Amino acid sequence: MKALVLKRYGGIDALAFADVPRPTIKADEILVQVHAAGLNPVDNMIAKGAFKPILKFDLPATMGSDLAGVVVEVGSRVNRFKVGDAVFASLFDLGVGSLAEYAAVPERVAAHKPANLDFVQAASIPMVGLTSWQALTERAQLQPGQKVFVPAGSGGIGTFAIQLAKQLGAKVGTTTSTGNVEFVRGLGADEVVDYKTQEFEKTLRGYDAVLGTVGGDGLEKAMQIVKPGSSLVSLVGPPDAAFARARGMNFLMKFVFGLLSRKIIRLAQKRSARYSFMFVRPDGRQLGKIGELLESSRIRPVVDKVFAFADAKEGLAYLQQGRAKGKVVVQMVKP
Ligand SMILES: NC(=O)c1ccc[n+]([C@@H]2O[C@H](COP(=O)([O-])OP(=O)(O)OC[C@H]3O[C@@H](n4cnc5c(N)ncnc54)[C@H](OP(=O)(O)O)[C@@H]3O)[C@@H](O)[C@H]2O)c1
Repeated sequence: MKALVLKRYGGIDALAFADVPRPTIKADEILVQVHAAGLNPVDNMIAKGAFKPILKFDLPATMGSDLAGVVVEVGSRVNRFKVGDAVFASLFDLGVGSLAEYAAVPERVAAHKPANLDFVQAASIPMVGLTSWQALTERAQLQPGQKVFVPAGSGGIGTFAIQLAKQLGAKVGTTTSTGNVEFVRGLGADEVVDYKTQEFEKTLRGYDAVLGTVGGDGLEKAMQIVKPGSSLVSLVGPPDAAFARARGMNFLMKFVFGLLSRKIIRLAQKRSARYSFMFVRPDGRQLGKIGELLESSRIRPVVDKVFAFADAKEGLAYLQQGRAKGKVVVQMVKP
């Protein structure tokens, strides 16, 4: 089968299409014919080698983690899915990829595709849906009436997290560039700061939670807008010692991550706030709950651009520009 494969670290130029064997499934896996695969910034970072110390990846490796497709084979211990089911899943951190004609998917990470979404829309969801869910409900434990700051509201994470936070009954503040202000309001954002003309830390106040989606000094600035007792959940770093511990990393990595996060943790403590770095976890049950929000149209997918499989590298290059308005998806099978 055809797959987009990383043979050596080196960014998009190091990726190439290859003919690889169709995966064989274990007893607890399903074989999925991939109809569409969502792209994420982490795909580009993996290709560059930026995650070498964190993600165990044996090269050559098939790229991509989000997928939607149809089950063509089921393992002997699988009981939630049957051949012909339409599913979606995240394969993040499992050492296998979605940018291929077929993927072996552990049953525990898959969910039934929401019936009202096409494969492209469904493939846009797993990474941003699970990340937003885990950050807002598990880490920040966002409550109705609380205020959450979700910077970069027009990005993949932003477009989903704004809508999820509204479903949780929260008020949402966000940042975006001038041309996207009305777009993020349409997703439900209550306070919108145009970062091209305003500084959010001078405008926003009284936030209970922050979702760290933008690197640089954004998190430090966000300390100025939070209340005591608030939670800052970073998706972009710095990683902390708790993250190294949770991944079973060695003493040196715990020490290094502890050093990297020392400043932001101290700043948080001064505000009586909590800082933590989060890494998304594939989870089919949670994806099923997210699917219910999509199927009942309480959350809608936001797809910016669709690329043919043969143009997957162009899709990654487009995403790398950092201007995507929603998600970028690769389509393997046209309806
Ligand atoms: N730790 C984890 O488990 C995890 C999981 C998922 C994602 N992430 C990380 O989270 C980050 C966001 O992911 P994503 O999928 O949302 O990325 P994305 O879709 O590539 O984000 C693009 C968006 O970012 C906006 N943007 C860029 N610079 C901005 C700034 N300074 N202020 C406000 N908005 C800005 C752009 O809006 P404009 O065009 O309007 O500027 C664009 O809409 C990435 O670094 C990703 O790797 C981490």
